[in-house]
Amino acid sequence: MSEVFVLELDGNIGIVRFSVEQEAMNTWSDQAFLSFNRVLTQIEGEKNLRGVIFISGKPDNFLAGANLKQLSQIASREEARYVMDNFHGSFSRLAALPMPTLAAVHGYCLGGGLEFALACRAIIAKEGKTTLIGLPECNVGLFPGGGGTQRLPRLIGYPAVELILRGTMLTAAKALELGILDRLLPPETDLLAEAKKFLAAIIADQAILTRPTHDFSQIDAIIDKAREQALKLSRGRELPGPMGALKSIREGVKVSLDKGLMIEKENFIDVVLTNEAKGSINTFFLKGMTDKPKSLMTKGFTPKTIDRLVVLGLGTMGRGIVIDTLRHTKMLVTAVDIPEALTAGRDGVKKILEGMAEKKKLREPVNDLMNRLEVVSGYESCRNADLIIEAVFEDIKLKETVYREVSALARPEAIIASNTSSIPINSMAPFVLYPERFGGLHFFSPVWLMQLVEIIRGDKTGQNTIDNLLHYAALIQKRPIVCKDYPGFVVNALLSPYIMFSLKYLEEGNSIEKIDGALTDFGMPVGPIQLIDSVGIDIPYKVALGKGEKQDTLKNMVASGRLGLRKSGRGFFLPDGKVDPEALPFIATRPGRTMTPEEIRQGLLQEMVKVGKRLLELGIVADPRFIDVGMIWGVGFPADTGGPLKWADLTGLSKELWGRNFY
Ligand code: NAI
Repeated sequence: MSEVFVLELDGNIGIVRFSVEQEAMNTWSDQAFLSFNRVLTQIEGEKNLRGVIFISGKPDNFLAGANLKQLSQIASREEARYVMDNFHGSFSRLAALPMPTLAAVHGYCLGGGLEFALACRAIIAKEGKTTLIGLPECNVGLFPGGGGTQRLPRLIGYPAVELILRGTMLTAAKALELGILDRLLPPETDLLAEAKKFLAAIIADQAILTRPTHDFSQIDAIIDKAREQALKLSRGRELPGPMGALKSIREGVKVSLDKGLMIEKENFIDVVLTNEAKGSINTFFLKGMTDKPKSLMTKGFTPKTIDRLVVLGLGTMGRGIVIDTLRHTKMLVTAVDIPEALTAGRDGVKKILEGMAEKKKLREPVNDLMNRLEVVSGYESCRNADLIIEAVFEDIKLKETVYREVSALARPEAIIASNTSSIPINSMAPFVLYPERFGGLHFFSPVWLMQLVEIIRGDKTGQNTIDNLLHYAALIQKRPIVCKDYPGFVVNALLSPYIMFSLKYLEEGNSIEKIDGALTDFGMPVGPIQLIDSVGIDIPYKVALGKGEKQDTLKNMVASGRLGLRKSGRGFFLPDGKVDPEALPFIATRPGRTMTPEEIRQGLLQEMVKVGKRLLELGIVADPRFIDVGMIWGVGFPADTGGPLKWADLTGLSKELWGRNFY
């Protein structure tokens, strides 16, 4: 394997080019550090060298940080220490070189890449679309542990705290303004030539490098405030990554750089071994996998052009689908509903778009978007449609009538998809003329806020239809997962026992507050009882009835007209979020015992994970990652767990129950 770092001599200047072979992006790995240290030895041996430039050999990146896969696999303190000794040892050795060193940056300079640049005497960068500069580690459950929490505050002062905590990726211009860069060049400049000139000026002591001495006397107050913000974002949970960052900055800037670096290293070793770090890294990879749904499509697939979309039903879901199509694409959209629902539907769409425009979330004026929407009754428009999405009432008889009419009008090549949440795709396939071009497209409410969409493959759905639905999902910026037809598909299948067991625990004498608290403390956005209340208490009741399950609490609530606070004004909760004491008599009782919050949490999550296992065994989903994507982006399962199945692996539950991990 060839060297990652290569030193060339240019008179008495050293030019070190680096490029990780066969990778688009430079990252730090054991091999890269070995090579880096060999180059440092060479530089230390070249007594005539007056200065060194470090420049990437890649077209669009300097260095994008550590290899996250490797970090997520660290299993012991010894291993963690070995990796961190590489970072700290190498960067300290670089910083201690007797001659000036210059990082010449174009493209991504992130995490361990910026920490490398910060250990040089100065940084020069070239503007560019991909020239982004920052320490994004806190966004993947870690913190900048290769000197970032020490060198960045010493260079730019207090603003470093927020940059590190938020993991902000700065444009080059902003990085220059904050003092991270010493010089910034326009896009078309010859970076190396300019770097040589700048280095010559530094060597001749003619370049002004702004290096103010910062006063850190207010650091405790600044960190306390930042900590409060971090806790607000994590709903009160002390996540190891951000907490480790704040601790390292707080303690590190009060002592010498060397001591600060040692503090940072020890804190990082603690953090990198946590499940939260490993879970967050998994979520980072899940995000990457579904950010570009193209990777989920068949290789070589050419998507069909979608110019015209017809949405059947302009209720809650239909409006959301219309809105996301209008704002993310140029498609002409026809929404079909019964005559008496047209005005409300159209006004509803407009109102939400206006709200988005006020928040500057639209790229086009509302009127332009509305001009691409036609709202009509009758199905004539289906004749010209490329894609038809059905979102009428959840009633199989109604759906049958609609499909039979629509299918007779539509072109044979048109794709028809149902947004049903509970009717099997296979049971509706006989209603259309071309079942191979029919599948499920299950959105989550509110559509414009929820990233997830489940694409459901009925027994007769063709792969080409799945690929085209993936393509449409990508166009409207959704995060898709693909599954086979199954009651509740993926997300609702996992939620179903979670909800039913929470009601069982409730009936066994555990309070609503305790049950919900056990799950919100874990990081769920709402507890299970609150979830039931907000989706509408009649919905899980119907699901239970459909499965022949007895659920007395839901039955009592529905019978008394308590369908949930939002739906009927009364449910388990009062508008201030407290439990409604008047709801308590409707809670059925059954023999059982009271449980600790930990037991409740384990019990409910275990039920979820068991369904995940079943879905994999039955081949409903091909890969555990789809289940974790579904739960993180469909329900808000905490990102720092990596999803329910990754969580089961990390906590040892998978091995305990089945002797092996999902991943
Ligand atoms: P909704 O009741 O808000 O809207 C249904 C719309 O269908 C109404 O505007 C109604 O006038 C219209 N409609 C009735 N008959 C029609 C016909 N013959 N032709 C055209 N339009 C007709 O219902 P929602 O909540 O939007 O649900 C629609 C579908 O989406 C259902 O299958 C539901 O299971 C599913 N779904 C609902 C979710 C939710 O959170 N509400 C989430 C995911 C899926």
